Amino acid sequence: NIMKELSGLEVYEQKLKTKFNLRKVIVVPGNSDIDLGVKQELGKACVHFLKRIIKDNMIISVTGGSTMSAIADEMIPMENKDCLFVPSRGGLGEQVENQANTICVEMARKAKGNYRLLYVPDPISESSYRSIIKEPVVKEVTEYIQNADIVIHGIGEAMTMAERRKMSKNQLDQIKKSNGVGEAFGYYFDKSGQIVHKVRTVGLQLEDLESIAHVITVAGGASKADAIESYFKLGKSNVLITDEAAAIKLVKG
Ligand code: G3H
Repeated sequence: NIMKELSGLEVYEQKLKTKFNLRKVIVVPGNSDIDLGVKQELGKACVHFLKRIIKDNMIISVTGGSTMSAIADEMIPMENKDCLFVPSRGGLGEQVENQANTICVEMARKAKGNYRLLYVPDPISESSYRSIIKEPVVKEVTEYIQNADIVIHGIGEAMTMAERRKMSKNQLDQIKKSNGVGEAFGYYFDKSGQIVHKVRTVGLQLEDLESIAHVITVAGGASKADAIESYFKLGKSNVLITDEAAAIKLVKG
C-alpha cells in the first residue's frame, strides 16, 4: 500500500541524511536508469524544493546533463523578483541540450528570472584560460557564479561522462587507470573522493562551494550509486535528491 511505500522511502531519506551529513534528502520511487519518468520526478522534486528556499535577488548556478535538463523541463514560475540563473561551468563538450548554458536559459525563462551565460570553450588551454578570465564579460559572470546562493548540480559516472564528452584516449585511460568512478563540475573522483582528473575551465571550482549557502545534488539510478558516494567523500552538498534504486545501493554500501 502507498502509505507503507512512502514510509519506506522516508527511512532511506533518514539514513542517507545521517550517512552524508545533509540538511535534506529526498528519495523518489523507482530507478531512473530504466525509467525516464523517474528522472522527471527528480526534476519535479528539485523544483518544489527550490520553490521553498528561493528568495528575491538570489543567484542560482546550474550545471549540465540530462538530469539537470529534466529539472529545467519541470521548472515553474518562481514569484521571487530578480532571480538570476547562471551556468556553473562552460560546455564540457556536451551536446547542446545537455549544456549548462542551455539549461540555464530554459530554467530562467520558465522561472521568470534573468540569466547570464558563459561563452567559454570548455575545456580550455592554460594560455587561453589566463587571458580569457580577464575579459570583463567573463569576469562578471564568474563573479556571479562565485556569489551564487544556490547551486544545483548533477553527478555522473566517470567513464560514462568522459566518453560522452569525447575526452582523448589518453585521458580516458588515465581516468580508468586511476579508478575514477564519479564526476561532478568537470572533476573526476575515485572511490575515496580523491580527484583523479579535472577539466580546466573558468566557472565554479570545488572550493567555491564552501561559501555557497545551498548546494543541491540531483542524481539517481542504481548505476550512479558509486559515483554519488565518491562525490560526497569530498564535495560539499547540503541536499541530495535521488531515487529509490540509488538510495538502496547507497544505504547498503
Ligand atoms: O556532471 C554530471 C553529469 O552532467 C550528469 O549527467 O544527468 O545526464 O547523467 P546526467
